[in-house]
Amino acid sequence: MALLPVLCYPDPRLHQVAKPVEAVDERIKKIVADMAETMYEAPGVGLAATQVNIHERIVVIDVSENQNELMVFINPELVWASAEKKFWREGCLSVPEFYDEVERPDQIRVKALDINGREFEIEADGLLSVCLQHEMDHLQGKVFVEYLSLLKRNRISLKMKKRLKELVGQR
Ligand code: NI
Repeated sequence: MALLPVLCYPDPRLHQVAKPVEAVDERIKKIVADMAETMYEAPGVGLAATQVNIHERIVVIDVSENQNELMVFINPELVWASAEKKFWREGCLSVPEFYDEVERPDQIRVKALDINGREFEIEADGLLSVCLQHEMDHLQGKVFVEYLSLLKRNRISLKMKKRLKELVGQR
């Protein structure tokens, strides 16, 4: 397994749309293992392949308290979303140290393939629902800050660019 570098907003590669996985083979399993390791190391509750510059529809999530219940979603598809919406404070490994409120459907149903290539469907609410929607957005090239006002987004972009410069300066 290997840790993968996570792209940081406003990197344009975060806006690339991921392609469906054609077959859940050894290559995909290796990507999933590396993504899980990267997510746990961060630590984070979810990671989309787009964030590690792999543009295929793969998401890993672990919303368990002890971070020991890995969920893998390959080619996830939203099949239903509740009309009721809720605000949730979100963060993202691609937008470090920034959190803000985003409104999303409260409950959803998602269809996907598991690590063995078998189709499954789950209904989610609470943190899992938010996390799944957030990660599926990544696969569409959308970062959560794009739900916020332009003013806020510009402020985040400036902050991230400054942070990047500082990191480069440290090398
Ligand atoms: Ni994210």
